[in-house]
Amino acid sequence: MNFLSRLRRVRKRLMSVGAASALAAGLLAGVSTPSNAATSLPCDIYAAGGTPCVAAHSTTRALYASYNGPLYQVRRSSDNTTRDIGVLSAGGYANAATQDSFCSGTTCLITVIYDQSGRGNNLTQAPGGGAAGGPDNLAVATAAPTTVGGHKAYGVYVAPGTGYRNNHTSGIATGDQPEGMYAIFDGTHYNGGCCFDYGNAETSSNDTGNGHMEAVYFGNIKVWGYGAGNGPWVMADLENGLFSGVNQHYNANDPTVNYRYLTAIVKGEPNHWSIRGGNAQSGGLSTFYNGVRPNVSGYNPMHKEGAIILGIGGDNSKGSAGTFYEGVMTSGYPSDATENSVQANITSAGYSTSTGGGTGGTLTPGSSISLRATTACCTDRYIRHQNDQAVTSVINSSSSSLDKNDATWIVHNGLANSSCVSFESKNYPGDYLRHQNFHLYRQTNDGSTLFAADATFCPQTGKSGQGTSLASYNYPDRFIRHYDNTVYIASDGGSNSFDSATSWADDVSWVVDQPWA
Ligand code: AHR
Ligand code: AHR
Ligand code: AHR
Repeated sequence: MNFLSRLRRVRKRLMSVGAASALAAGLLAGVSTPSNAATSLPCDIYAAGGTPCVAAHSTTRALYASYNGPLYQVRRSSDNTTRDIGVLSAGGYANAATQDSFCSGTTCLITVIYDQSGRGNNLTQAPGGGAAGGPDNLAVATAAPTTVGGHKAYGVYVAPGTGYRNNHTSGIATGDQPEGMYAIFDGTHYNGGCCFDYGNAETSSNDTGNGHMEAVYFGNIKVWGYGAGNGPWVMADLENGLFSGVNQHYNANDPTVNYRYLTAIVKGEPNHWSIRGGNAQSGGLSTFYNGVRPNVSGYNPMHKEGAIILGIGGDNSKGSAGTFYEGVMTSGYPSDATENSVQANITSAGYSTSTGGGTGGTLTPGSSISLRATTACCTDRYIRHQNDQAVTSVINSSSSSLDKNDATWIVHNGLANSSCVSFESKNYPGDYLRHQNFHLYRQTNDGSTLFAADATFCPQTGKSGQGTSLASYNYPDRFIRHYDNTVYIASDGGSNSFDSATSWADDVSWVVDQPWA
């Protein structure tokens, strides 16, 4: 029986018991297996469709309803010890608090992304390859904060030079065998370097010829294939070519896609393959290509080798950038219907940039906001600049227009990291909030790497439980804090007076408010 008719049967059964609602409630309460349709996660859905996952990677959530193991491992620089980050419950979301406490006051790197399929296809630091030496860099564990299902989690932030790989896999397609894969990426984080991939590649880390890879690619490199608009595009990396369709270069049906959370799909079977994609926050999937193998020699039949890569090309080309939240590879060519059900689960998982603090608004790039203090002394005070310094002032509807403008900030993707944010002054365009010697200032962006880092803050649920806290990108244990009505980046206890532990959690928790100007 195929997956759809099985789903219909389950639905029919539920509808017939629904006729007697008291009975239905009793019956549903008695359903003890977590594998009923409502809680099927992506790999349960692929299995029901007859194309099971043979690799399942995520730093944000379980991909099987029954998965209760580790999602990933981090290593901290303070003592080089490691810690596995698991799920909050079987089939649940990542326990990011484990990472936050283990990594507090130090820097953590993601060392392992565990395979949930039971096949041991873990991803670890990629070794050197034909195009670039190694080992590659590991991702900074705090660099891609996200919310999923209302819970804090972290994605895998790939800066150029970062890469993960497994050259000794089990169950991954080889030769011309059929397979499918999807990944969720940050559609606003990409570049034109080769090649931000997730999927099947060479077991030698060398370019062994056309057709030796089959991976999903995301970015705007135009060296090989490309699609409509200026990119970025979802394409298939088939080795010595990123393909957007049947032609080697241009295919009009492969659109520019830049959803903040992007579902990207590639699948292939003998002389047939497909590219699909959609918004991972809502709606369905579109098919960007569905047809025969490219009209270039060497790709039919395919010569897949079955290694797995993340963030790099098959030959360890590592000029690319991107962010990965989750992805799987299957055995067999998944039906569109199976993938559509997976997409329905993905959109219901609740990926969001909202900080989930429960109070206050969200930091949406492009919007204007004001940041209000939450400490009992000061709930009428907002972060504003005054004589180039950042301070808090009482602002209300009768404040002067100058004060209101000084207390208004335009949210941008972080200058140093698009998963975080930067705050541009409303009345001094081009000036941003930045720290210097741990004091906060409004200063003109000088374009330097240091300025970008000093002006980038990573939002998370407010440390007091209210609103939002803003971690310094380059001093991640320091948060934007008011102290004696002056604004700093402060640690929870430390040598400076403004690092005082007294009322620290309240002082670093801000409500994102409507803009005063
Ligand atoms: O196919 C594009 C790239 O070409 C591959 O990722 C890499 O192996 C080669 O350089
Ligand atoms: O921060 C620059 C200016 O200094 C502000 O607009 C004003 O409040 C103060 O005079
Ligand atoms: O604010 C701490 C550091 O002090 C900043 O990164 C740098 O600009 C200054 O040296």
